[in-house]
Amino acid sequence: AVDHRACGHGKIILLGEHAVVYGSHAIAAPVPLAVRATAQDTNSGGVDMLIPRWGVEYRLHRDPAHRDSFQRSLGIIFDQLELTERSVRIEVFPNVPRAMGLGGSAAMAVAVIRALDQHYQLGLRDDEINALAFRCEEVAHGSASGIDNTVATYGKLLLYKRAAQKGDAPMMRELKLAKRIPLVIGISGKESLTAVTVGKVRNAWQRNPALYDGIFQQIDGLTLQGVEAMQQYDLERLGDLMNICHGLLNALRVSSWEVEELVQIAREHGALGAKLTGGGGGGSIVALCPQNKEKVAAAMRDAGYQAMEVEIG
Ligand code: MEV
Repeated sequence: AVDHRACGHGKIILLGEHAVVYGSHAIAAPVPLAVRATAQDTNSGGVDMLIPRWGVEYRLHRDPAHRDSFQRSLGIIFDQLELTERSVRIEVFPNVPRAMGLGGSAAMAVAVIRALDQHYQLGLRDDEINALAFRCEEVAHGSASGIDNTVATYGKLLLYKRAAQKGDAPMMRELKLAKRIPLVIGISGKESLTAVTVGKVRNAWQRNPALYDGIFQQIDGLTLQGVEAMQQYDLERLGDLMNICHGLLNALRVSSWEVEELVQIAREHGALGAKLTGGGGGGSIVALCPQNKEKVAAAMRDAGYQAMEVEIG
């Protein structure tokens, strides 16, 4: 069981990434990987951030203008909570692989906010934690839809749509399934920053908005069909939708060699559907393979990738 204290969940997106930035629906689910964080008083006279696993250790600069991009994102938390002057040490234990499309940055923001909330007994509600983590995501990649921080905060299988107006609450609906859906996550090992792929898609969209809006609409439509397929436990149909979604993501040019290889491996070993998940450009894929999970995972590992069997819902 996942401990909810000072923890942020990693996630997969089953359908709808990238299009969700432009107002389409997306389906996302937590995975049993989380980032945890602790906060402790010190007498060092500043905010110290430690991520031992990554060999990261820094003193948060009080002046936002002097922070690098990494400090800027998490720094927002301390500015907003007015904790920049405190003498505190935050230790972060990231169990979500970095830059693998699994929501690691949002999970880290949520874990740090929750650690501070507990330590200083701030009494933050989940919606406040989510809103603050969204600010971090916006700094990390300008046009974040807010889906990663929402799953990182609530840890639920969700249908999500961003608010039409900045500042309004997004639409999120928990999807309750009668039966859990088994998936294999293939992790390519090729790090990719969501900021980069989201920026690439934005450039393409700016050159030809009508063309790309058409792709986003198709993704929106198949995501909504995906909700039906999940609720009816029609996995063949869900697999088809995932395959088509991957084709459309490919049209957005957010795939990579490694991602294509993983998708092919999954399909050749009997997956009903396989697609990249999250930002793409590397990162991870999800494969729907109710009958041959072990076979698909083993084939991915044989090809030198990491694989993880999960269930959603
Ligand atoms: C990243 O997990 C999902 C994207 O759609 C970006 C976002 O929604 O912020 C690629």
